[in-house]
Amino acid sequence: MEIRQISADERPSTMFPLQGYAFEGSPGSPADVVAQQARVRYFTTTTSLVAEEDGRALACAAGMPMRQNVRGVLHDMQAIASVAVHPEARRRGFARDLVNRLLRQGNDEGRTVSCLYPFRPSFYARFGFVGLPQRRLVSLDPAGLGRVEVPGASVQLLPNREAFDVYAQTTALVASRRHGFAVYDETRFEEWRGDPVWVAVARSGGEVVGVLRYRIDGFGGELTGEDLLTTGPLGRALLLGFLARHVDQVERITLRVDPAEAPELWATDLTATIESRVSSPLHRAPMARVSSLPALAGLPAGEADVTVEVVDDELIGGVWSLSGAGGALTVAKGTAEPSATLTAAGLSGLVYGVLDPVDVVTRGLGSVPVDAFDALRTLFPRQLPWVCANF
Ligand SMILES: CC(C)(COP(=O)(O)OP(=O)(O)OC[C@H]1O[C@@H](n2cnc3c(N)ncnc32)[C@H](O)[C@@H]1OP(=O)(O)O)[C@@H](O)C(=O)NCCC(=O)NCCS
Repeated sequence: MEIRQISADERPSTMFPLQGYAFEGSPGSPADVVAQQARVRYFTTTTSLVAEEDGRALACAAGMPMRQNVRGVLHDMQAIASVAVHPEARRRGFARDLVNRLLRQGNDEGRTVSCLYPFRPSFYARFGFVGLPQRRLVSLDPAGLGRVEVPGASVQLLPNREAFDVYAQTTALVASRRHGFAVYDETRFEEWRGDPVWVAVARSGGEVVGVLRYRIDGFGGELTGEDLLTTGPLGRALLLGFLARHVDQVERITLRVDPAEAPELWATDLTATIESRVSSPLHRAPMARVSSLPALAGLPAGEADVTVEVVDDELIGGVWSLSGAGGALTVAKGTAEPSATLTAAGLSGLVYGVLDPVDVVTRGLGSVPVDAFDALRTLFPRQLPWVCANF
């Protein structure tokens, strides 16, 4: 078996049949291949890999360049997607080899972090990935939203094509502020310019403070929103006030929201269902890992020093001295005796703020003596990430 990096033009003939079989209803029709050819231009910056035997593509995987906010700092990220293996070739290590190659290549290209949506988390846990929170889905009766009138503020309704640049700018703005938030590069993002959706744009004092893309399936039906993207409570209040004006038009409104949101606090008489489903393979929560420790230097960190050994990992294995002196992380090759041993997933869980040192131990992601708990907890305080993008 040989792994070959292919151009975007080769994707429809090599990767698509594998992805089509793995992720779509099948057998497909020739029209599906034509539809994929029209999408090629959105993948010119994506690293597309195929594993071939005797010139036949038997497995594929892709790494998309994205940016992700880690504790307030935007880092180059690799999104791993399109991992699919022909059924005749499964269980021969093809997926493992492709993922390892993507991780190595991403690291060479300076991608500090990697994210993916796992078909089964335990498969990717072996590659150093740790689980991140699932987004919340809110389904509500618009009658409970009440009225919101803010002087000097407005919500404008636009077709997607007219709002797309504002939507892209707001997405980038939220990414610059929200821990965990990941954004596509311009090439990949462009695909959504043609989506048949409405966009509600909330402004205050001329500044955009929120955007929501949505569709309505009919009178008396459902208004289906995508992610509620806001710069803060004002944007959220304005968009919810706008949605409330659909009370006589739709029965139900659904939205995807930041896992840190508590929609039950949005209005006094709200009737809503708030859920986060996690199951394999359909309702997948994201996973992430750190792929370079020196590149994390400068991250906001608590005032503590600790030396850790990262084990069993090609990318970040070794002894590292981590310090949060002055509130910014410094990273150096460690010379002192390590006070904790961590797997890549354990360290990633601390960096992303999703695991306490106690969780690292109970989840089998490292060995941390009790007297090192406080230093690690202070260095990497808990912080809830929101990945938002789905790939
Ligand atoms: C999931 C899939 C990509 C795995 O590909 P594969 O080439 O068979 O996987 P590998 O042979 O590289 O497996 C590597 C390891 O993971 C294990 N593994 C593979 N599939 C697994 C599964 N479903 N659950 C748990 N472990 C699994 C293998 O046993 C192997 O373990 P080993 O290292 O101890 O030998 C393939 O079955 C597939 O295409 N499925 C349909 C599409 C899909 O789910 N894609 C993933 C999207 S994220």
